[in-house]
Amino acid sequence: MNAPIKHTSEITDAEESLKVQEAQSVLDSTSATEVAMQNTLLTPRFYTTDFDEMDAIDVSPVREDWDKLIAQMVSDPNKGHFKKNEDWDHVDWDGMEPGLKKEFIDFLISSCTAEFSGCVLYKEMKRRGNNKDITQLFQLMARDEARHAGFINDALREAGVAVNLGFLTQKKKYTYFRPKFIYYATYLSEKIGYARYITIFRHLEKHPEHRFHPIFKWFQEWCNDEFSHGEAFALLMKTDPKLTQGMNVYWIKFFLTAVYSTMYVRDHQRPAFHDALGVDPDWYAHEVFTKTSKLSEQIFPITLDIDHPRWQSGLEKMQKANADLAKAAEEGRFFAKIGAQVRAVSAFVSLITIPAKKHQVPASTRLEPAY
Ligand SMILES: [Fe+2]
Ligand SMILES: [Fe+2]
Repeated sequence: MNAPIKHTSEITDAEESLKVQEAQSVLDSTSATEVAMQNTLLTPRFYTTDFDEMDAIDVSPVREDWDKLIAQMVSDPNKGHFKKNEDWDHVDWDGMEPGLKKEFIDFLISSCTAEFSGCVLYKEMKRRGNNKDITQLFQLMARDEARHAGFINDALREAGVAVNLGFLTQKKKYTYFRPKFIYYATYLSEKIGYARYITIFRHLEKHPEHRFHPIFKWFQEWCNDEFSHGEAFALLMKTDPKLTQGMNVYWIKFFLTAVYSTMYVRDHQRPAFHDALGVDPDWYAHEVFTKTSKLSEQIFPITLDIDHPRWQSGLEKMQKANADLAKAAEEGRFFAKIGAQVRAVSAFVSLITIPAKKHQVPASTRLEPAY
């Protein structure tokens, strides 16, 4: 008799999780995988880095906080959580308004790809490294991201589409980032991920009539995983003060601006989705930026001035330029495309030249999820 196949929510090893995902891939759809394969400025990418340099990190300067964080992750509070249970209400995919269905599926595919992007990067670091502290951390984070991606794929499968994650691992293009850029980008994407999930979760607690899909009920525990991952990257950066000083502060500003503006543009491509949630995307963006900025003060010496008069108008210009760009590309209008690209770049320049807010970074980075 065959042993029963474990569900991805129970699995602690990312490699094993991937095998389970691959076994299911006979059912996975080509169209969803094609969407996940796209590499544009707005779609989630896969990353690779200098794994030897990362393996050489010595966590002794943050040992006490490190051991506490790792112990908490080893205790695995969310084991078994990312699985459909009696709280998973029936989803009427056929009855869903087509515009909403399209945007929601797009949201799920993009979220699944982003979660899985974390999984492949972390899994690879674990596989290549020899440093016990580093490999242990990355194994734990890969475990979580494999569960997150697997759970979203379970939701997609009900709609008759799912991403073939095994295929993606082999065929999606990998973008190389130096380790320090991985720290800035990944730290931010973990913290912004936390802020996004908790903001939606709190909003739906107050307005359950807008919870049009059961997956949102899982967001609270989910965001706690992302919170811990962000904490880990904050500690990694804390081991080397140079990473958050001098010229690197300009890189931090670049990543903050890029991550925030990409989120804004991407979310504004999904009006029906936000409407169904009862969320104004401008309010949501401001709320998520406020939370992320507050959190990132734990490690970054600057935050963006999101209340500056040029901030909102810069985001709107960027969003408009991107919408025009997509339209021009679709219609094959070369000069309109160039024009929109120039406007997008100039909007980005206008955002990044807003003077940042400076502050003192605390001696200890550690935070607990408080929103
Ligand atoms: Fe995740
Ligand atoms: Fe994460």
